[in-house]
Amino acid sequence: MDALTLKKMVAKAALQYVQPGTVLGVGTGSTVDCFIDALADSGIQLKGAVSSSIRSEKKLREIGVSIVDMNDVESLSVYVDGADEVDPANCLIKGGGGANTREKIVADISEKFVCIADQSKLVQVLGAFPLPVEVLPMACNAIARKLEALGGQVKPREGFTTDNGNIILDVAGLRITDPVSLEKEINHWPGVVTNGLFAIRKADVVLIATAEGIKTR
Ligand code: 5RP
Repeated sequence: MDALTLKKMVAKAALQYVQPGTVLGVGTGSTVDCFIDALADSGIQLKGAVSSSIRSEKKLREIGVSIVDMNDVESLSVYVDGADEVDPANCLIKGGGGANTREKIVADISEKFVCIADQSKLVQVLGAFPLPVEVLPMACNAIARKLEALGGQVKPREGFTTDNGNIILDVAGLRITDPVSLEKEINHWPGVVTNGLFAIRKADVVLIATAEGIKTR
């Protein structure tokens, strides 16, 4: 089964968590694009959506979903988003699309974070996918040196600026056996906006598309 078919499958499966008439949290990425398409096809009427990126906001508006400012809601019952890697404890690496900061903010106010992924995203230990770290431009080299001291190989993402006007450093070569500690450590460095580890606030439910069907954990 090809990757797009798996993404469409898992996107459709996530519709069961969507509560009509509510404000939904919506993430970013190609799997989320499939989810927004599935939402359009489903005919489910939402009160609106809090989105984690300008890209998803645009797509949501195109299907007639109004965008709600996060400052106007206290919490969200459900947040649907993809991931770059998922470990056995449902800790994630996210930020392949560079939206990890807004994604982390939306996930934090959500009661249920539903992660949608295909089986290629499953790993035993996080870190084969380079960890995205959003940094303020002035701190780029200082943070790169600190990440290298942790054993990472750091590459600034070329030609890319986040929705918040910052830089993404992609950090390869980390074997992340304690994602909670690493998430906290990196986030404490001045100049880091957020890193792409979602371990402190991990997914509550992960839907995984496989050739045999959808697995839930
Ligand atoms: C964006 C993300 C995405 O959820 C992640 O990169 C997965 O993307 P895709 O569904 O395209 O594989 O974290 O910042």
